[in-house]
Formats: sequence, structure tokens, C-alpha cells
Amino acid sequence: LTQEQKDLIFNSIRDIKDFPKEGIIFKDITTLLNNKEAFKTLMDHFEERYKSYNLDYIAGIDSRGFIFGAALADRLGIGFVPVRKKGKLPGTTVCEKYELEYGFDEVEIHLDAFPIKDARVLLIDDLIATGGTATAAAKLIKHVNAQLVEVCFLLNLKFLSGDKKVAEHAPVYSVLEI
Ligand code: PRP
Ligand code: MG
Repeated sequence: LTQEQKDLIFNSIRDIKDFPKEGIIFKDITTLLNNKEAFKTLMDHFEERYKSYNLDYIAGIDSRGFIFGAALADRLGIGFVPVRKKGKLPGTTVCEKYELEYGFDEVEIHLDAFPIKDARVLLIDDLIATGGTATAAAKLIKHVNAQLVEVCFLLNLKFLSGDKKVAEHAPVYSVLEI
């Protein structure tokens, strides 16, 4: 990506103050998604990077990871697998708990999510903060015997060091860092 392309993508993400609660600056990607130049520039970049990875599936994290993950899977001509928040997947699942600021949450994947043996999988999400969600998702992908080739984010809140946690499971790539 050129600096100009990075700026186009970065500037299309909107900051919303005090959401979902006071003191938090929320990174809103809806203004990237409805900007056709920014969205296309990002998806072209993902396609260019991952077309040579020989991937079998893209796994996306509920819910914003679904948008980029499904779009990328279609571009690469491969399947998409959702990692969902607890209680949403109808089939037999495995689940993984992770810590939030207050309390815990859980993500799940279908036990038979990857029908190809030793599937090569890219995990994708819009943003990494503490890394709790992506680490749990990475563990799930390994539990169901797939190969986690890389974990990819649009935006890495690097000062929180979540990427280090995820890097224990697979290489981490992020398009933008703050
Ligand atoms: C946000 C973001 C990541 C996650 C990152 O999702 O989209 O998935 O938090 O946080 P972490 O690195 O501290 O785990 P959120 O749970 O708000 O749900 P959404 O994607 O459905 O909006
Ligand atoms: Mg999310």
C-alpha cells in the first residue's frame, strides 16, 4: 500500500467519542464500508497479499470480521467460516472463554467447520485491542485441527500489546497501527 492509500483507508474510519461507554473512543468502520474507494483499496490489498498463501478458508470473527472475511473469501474463490459469539451456531460446536475488562465472553466454531483435511486458514477481524477475542478464535481453529496460517487485522491498537498474545498462535499482520 502507498502512504496515500493507507491515508485513504485510515481517514475513512470515524472516531466516535464515549461509545459504548464514557471514556472510550470507538473506531467506526461503517464509514469505510460505505466509501467505495476506501473499501475497494482495502480489499484489493487483502486480495493481493493473500492470493499466494494457498489458503483453503477464511475464518471471520463475529461480527465485523464477517464483512471483510466474506468479501475476501469470495475474491479468493474459497470458503468462509464464522467464529461466532456464544449461542449463535446451530450445529455441534467447540467454545473458548476469554476475559473482558469486566467478566468473560465466549466464542464458538462448528466442530466440522473445515471439511478439507489440515485446512490452511486465515483468521480475520477488523480490530485488535487486548487480543482476547482473536486469541480465543485462534485456539478454536487449532482445536478443530486446521492450520492457522496468519491472523489479520485492519487496525491494531498496538499500545495494548494484544498482538503479542495472538502471535503465540500464528503470525500477525495488520494493515494499520495506532
Ligand atoms: C470488537 C472488535 C474486535 C474485538 C477486539 O468487537 O471488532 O472483534 O472487539 O477486542 P479485543 O482485542 O480486546 O478482544 P466487539 O466485541 O465489540 O463486537 P462486534 O465486532 O460485533 O462489534
Ligand atoms: Mg468484533
